[in-house]
Amino acid sequence: MAGCRWRRVCICLGSLCISLVLLFIYIAFTVCSNINSTGIKGTQGTQKSIHFVASGSYKTTNYASLPTTFWKENEEAFWNQLQLKLDRHFNPILDAQNARQVIHEKDFYDSILTRSFLEVTASDSMKRKFEQLPEQMQDFVSHMKQRDYPIILQPPSGTCGAGEPDEKMAPLVLLAIKSSEKNFENRQAIRQTWGKAGWVATHRRNSTEKREVGGYIRRVFLIGKDKKMKRSNDEKLSMLSMERGIYHDILQWDFNDTFFNLTLKDVLFWKWFSNYCSNTRFVFKGDDDIFVNIPNMITYLQDQLLVQHSERNMNDFMVGDVINAAFPNRLDESKYFVPETFFTGLYPAYAGGGGVVYSGHLAKRLNQISSSLHLFPIDDVFVGMCMARLNANPIHHPGFLTFDFPDKEEQEPCAYHTIFLVHKRSPKQIIELSANVTKTLKQCWNEPLRSSDKKKKGKRKKF
Ligand SMILES: *[C@@H]1O[C@H](CO)[C@@H](O)[C@H](O)[C@H]1NC(C)=O
Ligand SMILES: *[C@@H]1O[C@H](CO)[C@@H](O)[C@H](O)[C@H]1NC(C)=O
Ligand SMILES: *[C@@H]1O[C@H](CO)[C@@H](O)[C@H](O)[C@H]1NC(C)=O
Repeated sequence: MAGCRWRRVCICLGSLCISLVLLFIYIAFTVCSNINSTGIKGTQGTQKSIHFVASGSYKTTNYASLPTTFWKENEEAFWNQLQLKLDRHFNPILDAQNARQVIHEKDFYDSILTRSFLEVTASDSMKRKFEQLPEQMQDFVSHMKQRDYPIILQPPSGTCGAGEPDEKMAPLVLLAIKSSEKNFENRQAIRQTWGKAGWVATHRRNSTEKREVGGYIRRVFLIGKDKKMKRSNDEKLSMLSMERGIYHDILQWDFNDTFFNLTLKDVLFWKWFSNYCSNTRFVFKGDDDIFVNIPNMITYLQDQLLVQHSERNMNDFMVGDVINAAFPNRLDESKYFVPETFFTGLYPAYAGGGGVVYSGHLAKRLNQISSSLHLFPIDDVFVGMCMARLNANPIHHPGFLTFDFPDKEEQEPCAYHTIFLVHKRSPKQIIELSANVTKTLKQCWNEPLRSSDKKKKGKRKKF
């Protein structure tokens, strides 16, 4: 009697377990097949899937781990609402129909961006929020659904920037420098010093092969339109067009060159890069008011190619001055001011935009993922958001001084031999620094790179 009841219980439990397992397999299968079918056809013909929730959790010893999404979902802020709409669209559980849609046309994302934008801005509460935004932010919001501005000027015959015509191997780095029409002097200083295109040797020699260690450098300046510049009706006669004719390094788009439009330069640069720079190993993206120690950079990147040889590592590779879990700036006199009505939550980990290096592979992945994010007015934060979406973490290196040297470190005789770059230098200073670094080469031969933020003090913007 007792044995019989025992057997019945076993059968009951057993079949319950089996149905649970079957249910689980069914759910997993449905979700997976939905996610797979959201893949977009990239320009290189590779199938990439788009994750609808950023898994940006990232533990460091210094900070608490980040929330799984870097914006707060249930908040009423403008950008959060817009992004939520976009994420819902790609969420395979909420909307299997949309998520399954395979993307053939390049206009597909544009139409979703526009639609989500119109849906959010139609509500009265959002209209009221819009009216409270500062004027500049209102201007940003009114244009943020558009990003396909045409190219006015670009390097000749589809080349990936200025470079040596007969390179003997794939270019190592493309220097992509954000500049503006009026900053001719900055561009000249860069061209004459650290931004020289062509073969650049480091001070190292390869003892096995007895040859120079170095790499081919290419260069391009990323420029919008300056409304204050006097111009004739014929673009071909502009100063910039003449500059392009001489140096082959101008990439200009037809949008107003303002602070909040800088994000457009990243997005449109990734698109251009994906078309014209297929074999370039790394991108160095920086401002036109920095000094860069190019030999240090080349040595470091050559080492990365040896160390990070696995494809997986190069897919995610980005290094710079990484800022973790920053709060948006809430002081309305700041250039970086982002009001609570516009964005709530922490910023994801991002590399300071003064100068950052990433792999060519990553540039192409950023190009793809950027279409599933609404533009954000602070450019380097937007890049960080794209990184979070790719589940990729930028690497911090203390050689990137985007907030200048701490304390008196600059006065040490070999200071400039220990860094990759330092931010905020005038054209005149860039030229002087270059001459000094060359002069002190022998004396500072063995100087190691900065290895930690010694006395970390400098003022940090954006906090
Ligand atoms: C020197 O060249 C050899 C052969 O190409 C290579 O295996 C080695 O890693 C190189 N060494 C350095 C320091 O670049
Ligand atoms: C960005 O550029 C577009 C196109 O020129 C312009 O209409 C818009 O006002 C600019 N946005 C900002 C925030 O300056
Ligand atoms: C920006 O660009 C538009 C055209 O896109 C132009 O009408 C406007 O005057 C420009 N300047 C500002 C400050 O928005």
